[in-house]
Amino acid sequence: MKIRPYTRHDRTAVQDICVETSFLKEDTPIGRAMLTALYSDYYTDMTDNTFVATQDGQVVGYILAADDFQHFRDSMKKLYLPLAKKLNYKQYVSQLYVLKLFGKIQQKGVAHMHIDITENCQRIGVGRQLLHALASHLIGKGLHSVVLLCASDNVKGCNFYRKYGFIEQSRHFGCTLFSATLSNLLAKTSQNVVQ
Ligand SMILES: CC(C)(COP(=O)(O)OP(=O)(O)OC[C@H]1O[C@@H](n2cnc3c(N)ncnc32)[C@H](O)[C@@H]1OP(=O)(O)O)[C@@H](O)C(=O)NCCC(=O)NCCS
Repeated sequence: MKIRPYTRHDRTAVQDICVETSFLKEDTPIGRAMLTALYSDYYTDMTDNTFVATQDGQVVGYILAADDFQHFRDSMKKLYLPLAKKLNYKQYVSQLYVLKLFGKIQQKGVAHMHIDITENCQRIGVGRQLLHALASHLIGKGLHSVVLLCASDNVKGCNFYRKYGFIEQSRHFGCTLFSATLSNLLAKTSQNVVQ
């Protein structure tokens, strides 16, 4: 397994995993366009915070982050949300709520992130390695913390975040808001730490 920074050649593979691992199970052309507009394209196209895990040259997982909330919000409103609004109004509205929530909590020095690993490569430490790569990268950019929303009934996701030191902050519309300091994350995801 190799962890490396994303390149534009990985774009379709990242989109495939975004759709495959989505709780919405919307693997149709419309579903795909909506999911990638909301959950992967901004991060891959507009930030340098994406890392991929590869096995035999194939992308099997990714981690994405936005470290500048104002840029994220402006880009989403201008470039990605208009498409999502046409394709799935309910998801569009919930994304507006997410923007409002992150607007309150994502201050300077705080990033938000997403992570997805293809089904047959889960629970072998790929997520841990991706978290480690992202934490190290964001510390290098001067950030100190990361936040994310995970569906509260997503057992894999919630266990994973708790295992690597995320703290539950609050609950919103069926999702749990987790946060972690990057220094703690770096320590907890280090290969030498016995979990
Ligand atoms: C959540 C996810 C990113 C974890 O990545 P991963 O590579 O499987 O995680 P790691 O192998 O590094 O860490 C394993 C830990 O994650 C949690 N976990 C992973 N798979 C799990 C499962 N099937 N059941 C319960 N816990 C699980 C556990 O805490 C596990 O530790 P343990 O094996 O000691 O119990 C991955 O399972 C995934 O992509 N799931 C589908 C998409 C998703 O839910 N993304 C997060 C949305 S917010």
